Amino acid sequence: MTLTSAPNSSRFVSHRMQAVPPSGIRKFFDLLSTIEDVISLGVGEPDYVTPAPIRRAAIASIERGDTHYTSNYGLPELRERLSDHLFRLYGVRYDPRNEIVITSGSSEALDIALRAILDPGDELLCADPSYVAYLPATLMAGGSFVPVPTYASNDFRLLAGDVEAVITPRTKAILVGYPANPTGATMGREDLGAIAEVAAKHDLAVISDEIYDRLTYDGVHTCFASLPGMQERTILMGGFSKAYAMTGWRLGWIAAPGPLAEAVMKVHQYVMMSAPTAAQYAGIAAIDQGEAFIAEMVAEYDRRRRLIVDGFRAVGLPTFEPRGAFYAFPDITATGLDSVAFSERLLSEERVAVVPGSAFGAGGEGHVRACYASAYEDIERALERIGRFVQRRR
Ligand SMILES: Cc1ncc(COP(=O)(O)O)c(C=O)c1O
Repeated sequence: MTLTSAPNSSRFVSHRMQAVPPSGIRKFFDLLSTIEDVISLGVGEPDYVTPAPIRRAAIASIERGDTHYTSNYGLPELRERLSDHLFRLYGVRYDPRNEIVITSGSSEALDIALRAILDPGDELLCADPSYVAYLPATLMAGGSFVPVPTYASNDFRLLAGDVEAVITPRTKAILVGYPANPTGATMGREDLGAIAEVAAKHDLAVISDEIYDRLTYDGVHTCFASLPGMQERTILMGGFSKAYAMTGWRLGWIAAPGPLAEAVMKVHQYVMMSAPTAAQYAGIAAIDQGEAFIAEMVAEYDRRRRLIVDGFRAVGLPTFEPRGAFYAFPDITATGLDSVAFSERLLSEERVAVVPGSAFGAGGEGHVRACYASAYEDIERALERIGRFVQRRR
């Protein structure tokens, strides 16, 4: 048998998918895999292995033979734990029977939430720069993505006035995601309260991606749904990947009022059926036993945060103080390079991987994202190399 290439098969690709840009990050990581001895501050995932009690709970579930689908909504015990957990942390109450849906990562949560609320042409407002999947997921759901600029001078917070300025009769929802990827920005109760007022005034839905809620270093995290009047219009989502070092398990969740949760669940049941069963058992153990691990990991991330922010500043790259997640977002304009050229040259000349800020939207240009969920010593070595690289451009 001979393999033939089929150059014309691209004609079958939908217009919708043709309009979705390939991930700027993916291209970069393909390049990275061809180079040896790279220190990667690129991928946004914890360097920790999932804590042992969580791993053991999943293994035990498999050994017991719990290898079937679960309820479409997810294991009842996990939904109950999550419901109590959200109440304990944020004072919000969701009925575990029909207001919580367990998903395959918050990636799936994002997709099904958007599909559940967007009609063709509906506009979704979102901070620029923002997480790479927000725009493609909006387009794939048939919506229209409207970036709202944010600035380092405002700590990359989403300002109510800027949101209001782009609202049209087609605006359906605001997507907020704090602590933020790629900036590490957080929004306090007052900041979010101003966004809540805009949402109420224009009767908009809100999707709140709070996957980094536990990774907050200064101040406390505010859950958007806990703001007065917001729960009924909010699809709250989160996951286990970041807080419990569980990226590979593919476990996330949505909490939303009944009718919204039901719409979300309809998409979920047809595209996913149920989240992985062993991962759901791991999720129960994470909620029951994960607090000490979170405290330990957050303390260590905080130490690395100080190292990397001080390090960037010391080599002459102004860096906004990230108060959440595990990213630093230095301003690289002093080097005279744009973010793609900076990242590519830093990789080839000094073997350090960071992500070009432009991968997160036009507003990310002039910055690069460096993930500090890497070993302290690796960050130290990376900073030395970056210092050399920047020095050569002075
Ligand atoms: C802001 C944000 N949301 C969602 C995700 C997806 O996480 P997961 O699908 O692993 O739960 C990520 C991963 O990097 C993220 O940064």
